[in-house]
Amino acid sequence: MLNSNGERKLSSVQPPNRKRNYLFATCLFLLFMQAGLLVSKHYEDFNQPSTPLPDFNPSNGAVTEHPISTLIRNAEQSYRSKVLRQSQSLKAAVKEYQRRYNRPPPRGFKEWWEFAVDNNVKMVDEFDSIHDDLLPFWEISGEEFKRRATQVGALPSIELVRVRGGISSIINVYNNYLEDGTSPRSHGFNRMIQKFVHKLPDLDFPINTRSEGRVLVAWEDHEMKNNKNSTRDSSGGPTSMVGDNFVADWQGVGSVWDAWRRTCSPGSASRRLFSSMKASSASNVKDYLTTYDQPNASVSSPSSDFTFARDTSAHINFCDKPHAHFMQGHFFSDWRTIPVLYPVLSPGKAPGFLDIRIPSHYYYGSTARYTYGWDPVNLELGGNDRGEQPWDQKSDKIYWRGASTGGGNHPSGYSHHYHRHRFLRQASDSSSHNRTVTFLDPSTAQAVSAQVPVSTLNAGALDVAFVAAADGETYYDGPDGLRRDHRFGNAASLGDHWGHKYLLDLDGMGYSGRFMAFLASDSAVLKSTVYKEFYSDWIQPWLHFIPLTTSFREIYNIHAYFSGPSQDAMTATNLTSSHRDHLFRQGDRQLRRIARAGKHWKKTMGRRADMEAYLYRLCLEFARLSSDDRDSMNFTL
Ligand SMILES: *[C@@H]1O[C@H](CO)[C@@H](O)[C@H](O)[C@H]1NC(C)=O
Ligand SMILES: *[C@@H]1O[C@H](CO)[C@@H](O)[C@H](O)[C@H]1NC(C)=O
Ligand SMILES: *[C@@H]1O[C@H](CO)[C@@H](O)[C@H](O)[C@H]1NC(C)=O
Ligand SMILES: *[C@@H]1O[C@H](CO)[C@@H](O)[C@H](O)[C@H]1NC(C)=O
Repeated sequence: MLNSNGERKLSSVQPPNRKRNYLFATCLFLLFMQAGLLVSKHYEDFNQPSTPLPDFNPSNGAVTEHPISTLIRNAEQSYRSKVLRQSQSLKAAVKEYQRRYNRPPPRGFKEWWEFAVDNNVKMVDEFDSIHDDLLPFWEISGEEFKRRATQVGALPSIELVRVRGGISSIINVYNNYLEDGTSPRSHGFNRMIQKFVHKLPDLDFPINTRSEGRVLVAWEDHEMKNNKNSTRDSSGGPTSMVGDNFVADWQGVGSVWDAWRRTCSPGSASRRLFSSMKASSASNVKDYLTTYDQPNASVSSPSSDFTFARDTSAHINFCDKPHAHFMQGHFFSDWRTIPVLYPVLSPGKAPGFLDIRIPSHYYYGSTARYTYGWDPVNLELGGNDRGEQPWDQKSDKIYWRGASTGGGNHPSGYSHHYHRHRFLRQASDSSSHNRTVTFLDPSTAQAVSAQVPVSTLNAGALDVAFVAAADGETYYDGPDGLRRDHRFGNAASLGDHWGHKYLLDLDGMGYSGRFMAFLASDSAVLKSTVYKEFYSDWIQPWLHFIPLTTSFREIYNIHAYFSGPSQDAMTATNLTSSHRDHLFRQGDRQLRRIARAGKHWKKTMGRRADMEAYLYRLCLEFARLSSDDRDSMNFTL
């Protein structure tokens, strides 16, 4: 391997002594299979009407504010103060860096600052994401870090962007490819670093060529790293699966969830196997669907249709809510995760993963499928995308099209639980069971609520469909079942989206590569995700987009807030049409503001230059971490 560069083959690694683990994993697998069957019988419970409605009238008689209005107001305030407090000079930026991270910035920081200023980068201080992602690597030595960066490049679905003498190249060690045949993700990263690569020392950047996260280190191993005495591994490498023994997929043994739950502390619910299984029983299904987004829920009772997320679901604590894992496809990925602390650069980071975030190549490149305003004939970025429409001509519906993907098939039989399937099933529900819609009656400023059949709400608020039956054979009762339970529609181009005021953005196998295009449009984005990405510290939920929990329960109340309550809800609450018009005008104005704010954010903070600045700073940190003498790689004024 690597022979074209004359480098030696990777040192062979100790044969893994994992028999016990296999046995354990197999038992676990069987138990979860059983739990899964129990759960699957009861997935209909997802849409059960909720427990009593919250009363958001303050009892003291003060004027009521809808919780969404509060969230929007707070979001604007937080964002404004964040923008205003950004450093205005290199000196201030150095000081801020030292204050936040308790160490000096990395060497090259002055040039980075100049790059940021020249490119009009706004959020010059907001790089906690880089700090958080790299923090565990400070516990291993520079020499070891550098060795691991190269070594992990030998795994399947990892490639190296190799910098030598200020010039970069792409290598696929596993398949022994050089450039030709290498992944678009590596090419995207490579293009993004070209403006500053000549300033970097010799480094290897390991690029994850998949959209899924890769690195899951068991809690015990993670803690061990914190013991400074074990940072140098005399055996020549972390005891690991790396080397010729590492198989790309699970081969029926272990799963992402099995690896994931080991990242939790020993006392947590996800580590207690038997209680996990018991709690997977039917009565708990609807419970965990409604409460697991609690850390960021805003108001009201956790199980109601009237609980809104402050932020995306990237903070869900699956350690405490083991059953929530059935609801997200990424726990069922076919691809084996890496159980050792290796630096791996990935576009999205779900809770518990130790991947290092980089901007997605979809955001940086220009393609007809992922780029707003891209003219594929003349190969240039224009203003409005084809299909863009004036606000008043857009439909008031929440629009989504996509494939029935969203996870692998490992263990198999769970795809009906995955986020996309759940959402589509909720949206395809034509039954008469009621959901609760709550809004302010403008004449009294009191909260009123109505029970409305979910079929009516779906017809009035949603325009969503699968466009391709991917992996139909993995559905619990086959492709016909998949078609029976979910609405299917025709394929849609990016331009078809712009006819709608609301664009829903759902995770797929990993993060959603369409987010930047949606933001750039004149429509408002409603986003549900468990991933954090490079921009997460820069963007403000409820200002630039509307966050949606992954239970999707509150979607009808979000729609009622921005587009007014439906006819049924009006009738049930004696609302007059002039009151309804008032609610519509008020909400629609706010929705349009979110659409505009998102577009403006994309133009000013989601540019290619912002992605380059992010990577430039990450590369400087990476260079310092790779150094035998990290202190010599500090920057001082
Ligand atoms: C690390 O090693 C030193 C010297 O051998 C020892 O005194 C110290 O207790 C060790 N620390 C830990 C956390 O094991
Ligand atoms: C969401 O919850 C997490 C975990 O409790 C917290 O760190 C984060 O600041 C919260 N975000 C918001 C916007 O409240
Ligand atoms: C839905 O709500 C309406 C109005 O409150 C009620 O009459 C009807 O029985 C409810 N339907 C179901 C299925 O609970
Ligand atoms: C609606 O009006 C009817 C007739 O005036 C009244 O009986 C009913 O209580 C009202 N409903 C609500 C929710 O105010």
